[in-house]
Amino acid sequence: MKITFYGHASLGIEVNDVHILVDPFISANPKASHINIDELKADYILVTHAHQDHIVDVEAIAKRTNAVVVSNYEIATYYQNKGLEAHPMNHGGQWDFEFGTVKYVNAIHTSSFPDGSYGGQPGGFVIEGEHKNIYIAGDTALTYDMQLIPLKTNLDLAILPIGDNFTMGIDDAITASDFVACDKVLGYHFDTFGYIEINHEEAKRKFFDSDKDLMLLEIGESIEL
Ligand code: NI
Ligand code: MN
Repeated sequence: MKITFYGHASLGIEVNDVHILVDPFISANPKASHINIDELKADYILVTHAHQDHIVDVEAIAKRTNAVVVSNYEIATYYQNKGLEAHPMNHGGQWDFEFGTVKYVNAIHTSSFPDGSYGGQPGGFVIEGEHKNIYIAGDTALTYDMQLIPLKTNLDLAILPIGDNFTMGIDDAITASDFVACDKVLGYHFDTFGYIEINHEEAKRKFFDSDKDLMLLEIGESIEL
């Protein structure tokens, strides 16, 4: 499983030659200006919630690639109404896709579309694929619901928001890492806007002092699990 950070909360995941994008917010992110969305491959686009900073490029990429949008019922329906292919899910439900199993799990946040219309309830994804399991938390507060995840899934990587203000910050993300029983964390949702700028060295040191590993990737950088 290969994971690429495209800035903010945008990820590329490659499993067995299947390309998955998560929460594409790239063309509107000045920090990601070196990423061309017209060159990104996508068979599926996973959307955690409807906020602007998670959906800006969904339509353009899905139209070009015919990718299937996977999200909650309201967001999936919104894109189906625009003529895109979508797979609706809801909290606690899982589905076996060609690349692995996806479960839509709870997040504590909100989920309106940029025009104010209802985007359902926000979520995160647990992906079990190619003998590697990851948790993409989405925008969320720290929540005890995270403790449900390791009851079923041994995670190899937890992708957690760390920017604070709109989501968990560093200290809560360290607790979240305990809750999901995964000490290997990829941080996201930081630095994009003034409200969520973080001190990278301090963040990494806090994780290190808790016997955990916080990875912060450059935009466009990949890791292999
Ligand atoms: Ni959000
Ligand atoms: Mn966000």
